[in-house]
Amino acid sequence: MGILATLTLLLPVLQVCCGVRSHFNKKQKLQSPPLFSPLVVEEQVLWVSQEAAEVDTFRIPLLTFTPKGSLLAFCEARKFSYSDMESKFFAVRRSVDKGSTWSPMSFILDDGLMVDGLNLGAVVVDEKAQSVILVYTICFHHYKCSPSSVMMVESLDDGLTWSRPRNLSEQLGVKSFAPGPGFGIQKRHAPHQDRLVVCGHGTLEGDGVFCILSDDHGKTWRNGAALKSVPYNQPKQALDFNPDECQPVELSDGSILVNVRNQNKYHCSCRMVVRSLDGGETLPVDELFFDKNLIDPTVAAGLLEKDGRVYFTNPAHSQKRVNLTLRWSLTNGKSWEKELLQLWPGPSGYSCMTTLNGNVTEDRKFIFILYERGQRDSVETVVFAKVHLYGGL
Ligand SMILES: *[C@@H]1O[C@H](CO)[C@@H](O)[C@H](O)[C@H]1NC(C)=O
Ligand SMILES: *[C@@H]1O[C@H](CO)[C@@H](O)[C@H](O)[C@H]1NC(C)=O
Ligand SMILES: *[C@@H]1O[C@H](CO)[C@@H](O)[C@H](O)[C@H]1NC(C)=O
Repeated sequence: MGILATLTLLLPVLQVCCGVRSHFNKKQKLQSPPLFSPLVVEEQVLWVSQEAAEVDTFRIPLLTFTPKGSLLAFCEARKFSYSDMESKFFAVRRSVDKGSTWSPMSFILDDGLMVDGLNLGAVVVDEKAQSVILVYTICFHHYKCSPSSVMMVESLDDGLTWSRPRNLSEQLGVKSFAPGPGFGIQKRHAPHQDRLVVCGHGTLEGDGVFCILSDDHGKTWRNGAALKSVPYNQPKQALDFNPDECQPVELSDGSILVNVRNQNKYHCSCRMVVRSLDGGETLPVDELFFDKNLIDPTVAAGLLEKDGRVYFTNPAHSQKRVNLTLRWSLTNGKSWEKELLQLWPGPSGYSCMTTLNGNVTEDRKFIFILYERGQRDSVETVVFAKVHLYGGL
């Protein structure tokens, strides 16, 4: 009874004390905004090659937000070898708690025993139609098959179930086109607000960057911008101009920045960058430059725009796929900050980034990265990293 009395007496005092304190803290926070200092606060291995009975290698990570604020991670599950030309499933996992826990893997597509079957791909979210669309290709390399087809599946329930595949080559033609790998965008600003823009690349000889466009939420598609290789439709040699896998993002002025794999190392062992000023209709050579700060071993890299910063991930090495590094730019990719965040010093390959925009206070703090990494070889695992942009505070 003595203790209870004391507690009762203390309670109002405690409340007064803490009320005052929290008020003081809030004021302090407003006065000095948290320091920008990216830090990995959570990491999870989502796929391990040679662990699942029916899969040899998991590769080609794709990561997206959904209209409901979940995260979806996709990759190719290559059945009998690590080869690009190998029969596959597409695997997906889903997180409804900002990446803390993930659903078990499920397969959403299966090409049977077709050797040059499924290849990923770009995932694009239509926030107006509340849909998630996965665009991919079949028979990209024309190896024991013909023609190539660009396909899509769509989810209207946050990635739980997927539509039957639709053949976009009926509208686009049968030119080999491999979307991404990464994400497509829905334009948020003029010109062409709400348009879906998916960029990717052609086959080795007809290589180059190409974008496909939809102005009706994915019902119909047409061919948009092209940045063709030189010499186009002819065999390439070392140092030729050969734009390959790419990732677009929209900047706040409505232009589209595309960061491109420089397949034959034209001009440098570094990234090509090109911008579309007309919503993905053209990729003019006037807007093309080579970013010598972004050294690259020829790989698919990650690009993201969030709150005025542009983020970039790749294995930062001119020859080998090692040293997966996150960089950021305050000048829309014209220059990069000196500070950077090394995600993995060893073997690491393709990467893809996303972010959530639902909860203003919470979601402004994080970006999410999915990437290939290993101890001896970059294709051993696919890893998810949650990056706190303000040092975990
Ligand atoms: C997709 O459509 C094109 C053009 O009509 C056709 O040639 C191709 O065989 C179709 N692909 C599939 C997988 O049905
Ligand atoms: C990793 O990349 C960064 C950025 O280019 C560089 O500063 C660092 O030396 C690299 N580390 C290794 C081990 O290559
Ligand atoms: C937004 O995030 C904050 C901090 O985690 C949380 O307290 C709040 O409930 C969230 N709001 C909504 C609407 O989810």
